[in-house]
Amino acid sequence: MKRAIYPGSFDPVTFGHIDMIERSAKMVDELVVAILINSAKNPLFSVEERVSMLEEISGHIPNIRITSFNGLLIDYAREVDASVIVRGLRAVTDFEYELQIAQTNRIINSQIDTVFLTTSLEYAYLSSTIVKEVASYGGDISHFVPERLIDRIYAKYS
Ligand code: PNS
Repeated sequence: MKRAIYPGSFDPVTFGHIDMIERSAKMVDELVVAILINSAKNPLFSVEERVSMLEEISGHIPNIRITSFNGLLIDYAREVDASVIVRGLRAVTDFEYELQIAQTNRIINSQIDTVFLTTSLEYAYLSSTIVKEVASYGGDISHFVPERLIDRIYAKYS
């Protein structure tokens, strides 16, 4: 069974993440979406809220599992028996950071490879940070996240 892990903060999940999830799930038998719990980033949404949002938007994908993890990604990947880590590359600016992490992870465990998918062009600019920035000023975020999540995001700023 080919299992991949797609890790991230998903704070909140965006159309860019959903695009990555849909495309990578097609390549493997099971895709484990893994939310980092102990982030230094001081997340807007709790892990439970992020799990629930991811579950809601991925109901149409049969071979997906939403989980959360603490500690090193590479250790968690081994724990869930994933042989591949999936990451999205939006632009050159992502590359240096992603390369460093992928190489570090491979030094720690060479059995697990990182695979990069280029994000679809229409989401190349998009990030959770952008969504939060626009929402914090009451701007229109309907181009960035699914309709059903919009009120939950605005509620964090009301
Ligand atoms: O969506 P993000 O915030 O870009 O995701 C980053 C994430 C969660 C993939 C990365 O920060 C991560 O793997 N964190 C866990 C700790 C770890 O394994 N770091 C990499 C080795 S130094």
